[in-house]
Amino acid sequence: MIGTEGSGAVGAPMERIEGRAKVTGTAPYAYEHDFPDPLHVHPVLSTVPRGRVRSVDVSAAQGLTGVRATLTAPDVAGTVGAEDREFAVLQDGEVFFRGQIVAAVVADTPEIARQAATLVRVDYEVDDHEVELPPARRELYRPEEVNTGAEADTARGDADAVLADSTVRIDRTYRTPREYNNPMEPHCSIAVWETDPERLVLYDSTQGVHVVRRTLAEVLGLDAERIRVISPHVGGGFGSKGSPHAHNVLVVLAARALPGRAVKLALTRRQMFSLVGYRPNTIQRIRIGAEEDGRIGALVHDVVETSSLAKEYAEQSGVCSRMMYTARARRTTHRLAALDVPIPFWMRAPGEAPGMFALETAMDELAYACGLDPIELRLRNEPGRDPESGLPWSGRHLARCLRQGAERFGWDTRPELPRGHRDGDWWVGTGVASAVYPRLTLPGSEAEIVLERDGSHTVSIGAADIGTGTWTALTQIAADALGCGPDRVRLRIGDSRLPTASVAGGSSGISSWGSAVVAAARAFRDAHGDRPAPGARSRAETPENPEREEYAMYSFGSQFAEVRVNADTGEVRVPRILGVFSAGRIINPRTARSQLTGGMVMGLSMALHEEGVVDPRFGHVVNGDLAGYHVAANADVGRVEAEWLDEVDPHVNALGAAGVGEIGIVGTAAAIANAAFHATGVRVRDLPLTPDRFLG
Ligand code: MOS
Repeated sequence: MIGTEGSGAVGAPMERIEGRAKVTGTAPYAYEHDFPDPLHVHPVLSTVPRGRVRSVDVSAAQGLTGVRATLTAPDVAGTVGAEDREFAVLQDGEVFFRGQIVAAVVADTPEIARQAATLVRVDYEVDDHEVELPPARRELYRPEEVNTGAEADTARGDADAVLADSTVRIDRTYRTPREYNNPMEPHCSIAVWETDPERLVLYDSTQGVHVVRRTLAEVLGLDAERIRVISPHVGGGFGSKGSPHAHNVLVVLAARALPGRAVKLALTRRQMFSLVGYRPNTIQRIRIGAEEDGRIGALVHDVVETSSLAKEYAEQSGVCSRMMYTARARRTTHRLAALDVPIPFWMRAPGEAPGMFALETAMDELAYACGLDPIELRLRNEPGRDPESGLPWSGRHLARCLRQGAERFGWDTRPELPRGHRDGDWWVGTGVASAVYPRLTLPGSEAEIVLERDGSHTVSIGAADIGTGTWTALTQIAADALGCGPDRVRLRIGDSRLPTASVAGGSSGISSWGSAVVAAARAFRDAHGDRPAPGARSRAETPENPEREEYAMYSFGSQFAEVRVNADTGEVRVPRILGVFSAGRIINPRTARSQLTGGMVMGLSMALHEEGVVDPRFGHVVNGDLAGYHVAANADVGRVEAEWLDEVDPHVNALGAAGVGEIGIVGTAAAIANAAFHATGVRVRDLPLTPDRFLG
């Protein structure tokens, strides 16, 4: 725990310290950093899903006034490491998906660059392609591991035998579509390349300045010390900014072609649909064998997912079924199809979001099959220890979340049977689902504390605030750990010159960076005592936590939804959702609530709207913009409430706190789909819940 001398900053609903700068427009986002006469690069994207570039004609583009350079493979091949296909931008003519960068134009204005890009003529040799799941011709394969580094397959006991012996059996297949992160701020960069000595400065919209620096150093073959990445404010990422992508390499190539000049790149919405990752579509078969009293004997979760031939990505959709519920026999598998499609990547709660849609819908189906209340079913299958590792839980409070949520939501007034409540033209129902997310701490962060002349402390760590509240929460943590007021802390984040920080991913920021700040504060007090002199300085890393080997660490939650489905049109409305979460100590209730309700709104959007529709003939997403790919807007969202248990996890880290960035999305879509079934008696197993699914 933090020292008892804490200032009480942790736990207070402190307003965002950068809030005023943001709403008055003075907080600079990546594209907004000011340079005299910047240049602008605009990529040309492949129009075929598979093949190779035969030739590129840039003469018309170069004829346009204001065009400063064109970039094609013959111009820049051999200048960057080509092992990782995502970063091998313009290194050869191979085309792995439609929407891949095949050329670019640099010009005086973004408008000229964009117009010139349309004048570039690319001639392709076209190969056959395959973009649909399951693939008609390609073999599925088992990845070496899934996204978290976990095994692709696990098995315990004879699941098939237990299934065969079970009184109640569920065997259902669920599908989730491609979903796109769509942060409000698009992916943007400004690159400046200096020669003699060679140096790169990159202003980037990223979840991790040090990840970008490390990756670009490898790709460019440049010493990391020669690269500086700056990113003080980020307008959302949801995982897609957790790694650099091809556009980062492109803007650097453009800057290197025009040394000394600042080159700006802002991807368009459409370009983001092929260049910055997305949640791959999944097909998930779930089999559960249970007794009539609801006790589960066997649980099998088989996942088939899209990956890209250009670069593997294995969403860990089945891992939630390894630990959520008790079962003496269990099997989980992941199989990938390497398709000619853009490279999938992290999107808010990768794995848990699609996986828990499938598992929690299956649990609802099992509840009806057993004639049990869905909350009671879950309570009857609570494991005393983590079924996967056999370890005790650092704090498993799912049952409390379910009970507290049921009470707050008014669960017990619901009609028992589906299609039991009609209000005018609307069928009305309620649904519930569980949520889960691991309590992760990443290694490799370091914080530095310096006492200034005015008595304030400068606290430095290269962390990221992607809209989550890092600026504020780390300030509160530092204040408590130093025993001073938050106004005596000057936080510095978002610059690779600051001490190294891990990526803002896996909801690990508060735990990883916060622990480093606490450790640095302890080191500071140990080294400098009660009366430190100005200039006193200490550094410390995120400590290793031996309790990681002794406890299974997870956050849990319950999600409740009320749904109305129009009897004539099938339109689905969600007037009310409630989430009750267990996430350890809450550092800042204001920013945490915003994270949790934001995740729930994204889950609602996943339930009702989001689907990248692929045209199998050409391999592209036909609705690749915000007009066609609808993200929940104000009119779609009713009352969204998030609560949390009063809880401290004594094992997870010195703060007793877990992150809240991702768990909010987990379970929301299942709760809504389960409520839609309760309203209508129509079970929808394929997201999203579009009106047509409830008609006919
Ligand atoms: Mo989060 S999707 O792990 O950046």
